[in-house]
Amino acid sequence: KRAVTIANRTFWLSLLAGIGSFYYVTKKDRTPGVQLPHDPQKKTIVVLGSGWGATSFLNTLDTTDYNVIVISPKNFFLFTPLLPSVAVGTLSPRSIIQSTRYVTRHKTRAVEVIEAEAQHVDVANKTVSFIDNSAIQGELSATTIPYDYLVYAVGAEVQTFGIPGVTEHACFMKELHDAEKMQRLFLDCLESAAFHGQSEEEIKRLLHIVVVGGGPTGVELSGELHDFLEEDLKSWYPELADKIKITLVEALPSVLPMFSKRLIEYTVSTFKESKIDILTQTMVKEVKDKSVKLALPDKTVIDMPCGMVIWAAGNRGRAITQDLMAQLPGAQTNKRGITIDEYMEMKGTNGSIFAVGDCTSSSHAPTAQVASQQGAYLARAFAQRVKRDDLEAKVTELERSVAMILHDDERKKTQDELEGAKRQLAKFKIRPFTYSHQGTLAYIGSDKAIADLPFLNGSFASGGFLTFYFWRSAYLSTLFSLRNRTLVATDWVRTKIFGRDVARE
Ligand code: FAD
Ligand code: NAI
Repeated sequence: KRAVTIANRTFWLSLLAGIGSFYYVTKKDRTPGVQLPHDPQKKTIVVLGSGWGATSFLNTLDTTDYNVIVISPKNFFLFTPLLPSVAVGTLSPRSIIQSTRYVTRHKTRAVEVIEAEAQHVDVANKTVSFIDNSAIQGELSATTIPYDYLVYAVGAEVQTFGIPGVTEHACFMKELHDAEKMQRLFLDCLESAAFHGQSEEEIKRLLHIVVVGGGPTGVELSGELHDFLEEDLKSWYPELADKIKITLVEALPSVLPMFSKRLIEYTVSTFKESKIDILTQTMVKEVKDKSVKLALPDKTVIDMPCGMVIWAAGNRGRAITQDLMAQLPGAQTNKRGITIDEYMEMKGTNGSIFAVGDCTSSSHAPTAQVASQQGAYLARAFAQRVKRDDLEAKVTELERSVAMILHDDERKKTQDELEGAKRQLAKFKIRPFTYSHQGTLAYIGSDKAIADLPFLNGSFASGGFLTFYFWRSAYLSTLFSLRNRTLVATDWVRTKIFGRDVARE
């Protein structure tokens, strides 16, 4: 009886302590304190972007030593790995975004956040020009500011290869509004198919969803669509659900080339069970209003009718990045993106521009993992840079003193101090960036995920239900804030209990 009472008390006490600490952490998060003001004596870092690279940089940077200005057309960070879940309503859009101000308001020194699109970087004059192109603008909506250092993290845009009709008729899966648009269009396809008297042929077309690109985005999205169909649409559209067809089109001989062979085979067999058709060695040549033109492996070209096309065919550099690179024709010749050195320095900019993430061309894949490690590294390197600048200033100051001091003893002492500072400066080295690969994960639908994880000197491949829970916990812990973690976790529970919403906004 005594043991039961003790267990009972321990339970209630731990529950109270849990609620108390949750309340304390959230309250502390919601009421950031007073920050140091802008200091004209300090150097100014201008950060372009609010994605993986930029947010990781801001999270890690010690702002005591710098003034920081962030410019991005979106005033939030988007957790891209969970974007396909938003597209089918498993998660709410707001659960995977986090205001940039949430990050900057917790920094030691106030950071200026400007919601605007950078349009031009002038490398020679070290300035950046940007415009507010949102719906509501003030009297001033375009301006140019100088920088001492530029952290360039504008990511990439969707690659269309100039294929006709892609921009007009396909839906992308890159930004939050893409996922929201896809959800609306998909439900529209269903409602139009349910229109009274619709012909069988037209129903078949409207319910055929074509996903272009067998990279992780296309695969994850196909898996999410399948879950939506199995777990919800069969209940709410019983007469249509069996007619829904998902086709994944990939130009290469295999989907998911970055995964091990075993996991590729596992994905292909899971998709087969899920009745998701995979067409490999098939190239989309044109996207039309009601069909896609495909070049099949035997080179024949067909028109495949469909209700909607989701384009997940990779990335290309943004126009502003091409413009920036064109200013340095000698140093920037790689068409895939900005060439950086192992310190993230953009070649040819003499230490004034640093680039991270998808806008760069490095030996690493364009992933969130790489961008966030690069951003965090760069922030740590900036802390080192301040120490180096202080040492340089000390050397200059001591050199001046030595030249001015007349008294021999005193000059000797200062000379010794100067030699010491010079030795320290010569030894001072900022460590280069090293990438630590944490593994590659992807969700493939039906509560299954695949993972290629580094293990000893090789890798460990796993797929299935357990990997799915690993996938979920890995992304839950990677989310930047307690708020996002709580929202995502409750969304998962909400979907499990109530299912996904089929109301079309
Ligand atoms: P982004 O995160 O794209 O950020 C670019 C930022 O720059 C944005 O804030 C944008 O608004 C801003 N910007 C754009 N133009 C301008 C401008 N002119 N001026 C100023 N700012 C500008 N990677 C993984 O490792 N794991 C995953 O599971 C994974 N899943 C993904 C799922 C999807 C659906 C997608 C699309 C990508 C996924 N990725 C994943 C890839 C990952 O999202 C990218 O590699 C990562 O976002 C790159 O970070 P970044 O900072 O370079 O660019
Ligand atoms: P991707 O570049 O990885 O894949 C695009 C695919 O589309 C390619 O396989 C390409 O062959 C194919 N393609 C291109 N044009 C085509 C056409 N006309 N017809 C048919 N197929 C065509 O792009 P994705 O999936 O958007 O990924 C971009 C980056 O983000 C990658 O580096 C990826 O690793 C990363 N990412 C990682 C995820 C994860 O780790 N789970 C999830 C999503 C993205």
